[in-house]
Amino acid sequence: MKVVVSFLKTLTVLGLAASLAACSSESADALADAHPGRATYNAACISCHNPGISGAPRLGDPDAWQPRAAKGRQALVSSTVNGLNGMPAKGMCWQCSDEQLGHAVDYMLDQAGVTAAP
Ligand code: HEC
Repeated sequence: MKVVVSFLKTLTVLGLAASLAACSSESADALADAHPGRATYNAACISCHNPGISGAPRLGDPDAWQPRAAKGRQALVSSTVNGLNGMPAKGMCWQCSDEQLGHAVDYMLDQAGVTAAP
C-alpha cells in the first residue's frame, strides 16, 4: 500500500511539473504577442462579443465593426464606459479603468482588422 501511495505521489508531482512547464511556456508565448487589451477582453467582454449576444458586434467580424469604427474610437470608448442599449456600462467590469476598457476596444478593432479615427 505504501508503495502505491508513493507511486501516486510521484505521478502527481510529475503531472504538476509537466503542467507547470506547459503553462509557463504558453504564457511566455502569450506575453510575447499579447495585445494590451486582450486580457481585459478575455475577462470581461468575451462572453457577449464572441457569440454576438443581443447583437453585440462579434470579435474578428469586419462587417460588424466597420460601421462602429466609423463613429471614431472616442465614441466607441464612451459607449463602452457608459453603455449602449444591450451593452452594459463598462461591460460590467467595474474594476476596469477607462484606459483598460480603451485597450479592450482597440483589441476588438484590431481583431476585426478595422481602424477608427481617434
Ligand atoms: C452583456 C453583454 C456584453 C458585454 C459583457 C460586453 N458587451 Fe460590448 N456590446 C454588447 C452589445 C449587445 C452591443 C451592441 C449595442 C448596440 O449597438 O445596440 C455592444 C457593443 C459594443 C461596442 C460598440 C459600441 C458602439 O458605439 O457602437 C463596443 C466598442 C463594445 N461593445 C465594447 C465592449 C467591451 C470593451 C467590453 C468588455 C469590457 C464589452 N463590450 C462587454 C454587449 C456586451
